[in-house]
Amino acid sequence: MTHEPLEARARAVLPDDVYRYFAAGSGQERTLADQERAWDALHLRPRLLRDVSSVTTRTTVLGTEVATPVLVAPSALHGLAHPDGEVATATGTREAGSLLVLSMRASRTLEDVAAAAGPWWQQMYVLGDRGVSDEVARRAAAAGARALVVTVDVPFVARRPSGPLPALPPSAIVEALAGRDPADPRYQQAPDLGPADIARLKELTGLPVVAKGVLRGDEAVRCLDAGADAVIVSTHGGRQLDGVVPSPVALPEVVAAVGDRAEVYVDGGIRTGTHVLRALALGARAVLVGRPVLWGLALGGADGVREVLDDLTASTRDAFGLAGCTSPADAGRDLVR
Ligand SMILES: Cc1cc2nc3c(=O)[nH]c(=O)nc-3n(C[C@H](O)[C@H](O)[C@H](O)COP(=O)(O)O)c2cc1C
Repeated sequence: MTHEPLEARARAVLPDDVYRYFAAGSGQERTLADQERAWDALHLRPRLLRDVSSVTTRTTVLGTEVATPVLVAPSALHGLAHPDGEVATATGTREAGSLLVLSMRASRTLEDVAAAAGPWWQQMYVLGDRGVSDEVARRAAAAGARALVVTVDVPFVARRPSGPLPALPPSAIVEALAGRDPADPRYQQAPDLGPADIARLKELTGLPVVAKGVLRGDEAVRCLDAGADAVIVSTHGGRQLDGVVPSPVALPEVVAAVGDRAEVYVDGGIRTGTHVLRALALGARAVLVGRPVLWGLALGGADGVREVLDDLTASTRDAFGLAGCTSPADAGRDLVR
């Protein structure tokens, strides 16, 4: 990897409309602009004189062992970034010892992705026609998904300044909708998405459910009361309600409200090992990264994805060691102000 920033290198190889679709936020892009700054604003308080000759990044998420607490966030239409789409993402993620959350808006069939993947979770949008999304959940369970990640912050897709993609090439086709008109409200996110959807998807598949897109303690508890087994603190990469509280600011409230009931994960603007350290110190079990994976995929397919994840894991290990912290379990609240 060169020292030129990852995003700039990816931008140089992507068609402009695709780059803008991946990079954009919603509204005035206030949340998008806040994310990384909010992580940087938390200052670290290193421990000293600890033996850090052996530092591990290994952990578990919902009981699944992973080599790194850096997981892959669900993002749509990897076929726009690389001809192999999510199959390449799955391969790179497996090689990095991480876990893939596969978007329901994928370009490739979930069965093809499952064949290339290590551990993976299926992200779910509940659609107006529940039958269509339920079918995806059933297929995912049959193909070996270890959990469903139900996105709860999209009753409908927020306006983006970049606008919709001007023209979707065949590589961008949403596989789960195969042959259906994506403009038909029945095949769009359900504005009446509710707690009963969490319960139904769990019952239908027997899989644990992770609620993605939580920014308040009381809302996290509502998700758990509805049957969720874990929550992801997320602003959807600054692509839904603009002006929301940044993930690192919301995280402590959610962790406090959830207590020992469930694992809490976080995403949004996580770009460095010191960001990962801050997230774990604030009580997250693991983090997810979205855009950096897309940039890696665009630049180098499966190898590019693996390199991005390996780099982040290596910088996480460094951050741990320099902070006097030897493992994810050892990361505590004392490490951040
Ligand atoms: C291009 C793009 C597509 C996305 N598609 C989905 C999706 O299909 N489902 C979902 O739950 N989140 C989706 N997200 C949100 C990500 O899962 C994640 O919350 C966010 O990207 C994390 O922030 P980061 O990109 O700053 O790392 C998408 C994000 C991007 C950038």
